[in-house]
Amino acid sequence: MSEVFKVGLAGLGTVGTGVLRLLDEHQALLEARSGRRIEVRAVSARDRSRERGLDLSRYEWCDDPAALAQRDGLDAVIETIGGTDGPALDLARACLGRGRPLVTANKAMIAEHGFALAETAEASGTALLFEAAVCAGTPILQTLREGMVGNRIDRIEGILNGTSNYILSAMERQGEDFAEVLCEAQRLGYAEADPALDVGGGDAAHKLAILAALAFGVRPRFAEVEIEGIRDVRAADIMQADRLGYCVRLVAMADLETAPGGGSPRLLQRVRPCLLPAGHPLAAIDGPTNAVLVHGDYAGPILIQGAGAGSESTASAIVSDLVALARGEARPSFSIRAADLRPAECADSGAREARYYLRFVVADRPGVLAELAAAMRDARVSIQSLIQEGESAPDGGGPVESGTMIALVTHKAPARNVRDALVRLSGADSIVEPPLAMPILMD
Ligand code: HSE
Repeated sequence: MSEVFKVGLAGLGTVGTGVLRLLDEHQALLEARSGRRIEVRAVSARDRSRERGLDLSRYEWCDDPAALAQRDGLDAVIETIGGTDGPALDLARACLGRGRPLVTANKAMIAEHGFALAETAEASGTALLFEAAVCAGTPILQTLREGMVGNRIDRIEGILNGTSNYILSAMERQGEDFAEVLCEAQRLGYAEADPALDVGGGDAAHKLAILAALAFGVRPRFAEVEIEGIRDVRAADIMQADRLGYCVRLVAMADLETAPGGGSPRLLQRVRPCLLPAGHPLAAIDGPTNAVLVHGDYAGPILIQGAGAGSESTASAIVSDLVALARGEARPSFSIRAADLRPAECADSGAREARYYLRFVVADRPGVLAELAAAMRDARVSIQSLIQEGESAPDGGGPVESGTMIALVTHKAPARNVRDALVRLSGADSIVEPPLAMPILMD
């Protein structure tokens, strides 16, 4: 047998302990597949005394995670501490700077610092791998780096946040509003106590920035992702969408426009709730499942789906990176060398055309429809259909509490015209809640 592959592990939360369990349980299988026995030799976490249901006495303990970068004899370090900056980033810089491979599940750190870390890794001739950062054990990064390496990819779409998808699916099934379903999701462990990053779209945006970099060969541009979460979607919107033949999903999408005349390509990255027709491949993705649809010029559309979170799924991805390192098969972090990643410009999303679902909650009185129609006309947005729901009651009853709901479906219009129509209506007395606009994606 060849040499043992020795690993340091920083972070012993659900992900870190999942990695220890997987490595123990599948030790023989992994040895057969990688040709080396993979062993964790040293661990680090904030609290040594916390009960984790594991015997930690066989690992060397380091109070300071950065010690794993210095400790002699490790072949790789796994980072599961989390956080964009702080100890996770310090550890990553220290490991990569001294030529020690790093495996991480940290999407925020990779989305924001991944390019600089990949440059550091390459300068010291080592590897930075992060399969677990996007969709956990659903192997989308390896699919892009290896299985689809022969394709030009010009578009990628995905359901990248399990919490949001769980909530939207439950709202659809139960006819309940966001706040009620969020409470239930928190009780069942599908949503964090602080759900802001998940339901606000930030978590999906981190993953999208990483996917876009790998798919298109550009530097990750997290700061330029246009983000809108799901808090403003109501059960009544989902019901309307269903009547029209659509479902509502938080979709992350990116595409790359080639600039005329060979200038820098233009990257569009957006996370927002969208209406999907029943036949769209992402419409069937239900509950906490993640899915990514990649459009390859030779392979065609490829849909990959599976668990996107959880101790076991995330451990599976981390171990796949470890095996690649043990086999000596690590590829460049973003599929091509950091120095060759292109610095894409940000595309103008205002020019993009789509049909839109627009929802207004209005005071039901004469002239309200005329006001809406005038704003659409002045912004050059053509209305395809209009649905007014329910009767307004003296107490404002009906399908929404504070007024009457009017939903419009537009013909295709540039995003900037739709924004303009909403701006024109923003001061209107008759509009009693901020409107909601969701594009309709076609399959
Ligand atoms: N909280 C994420 C989700 C998983 O709900 O999908 C980790 O990114």
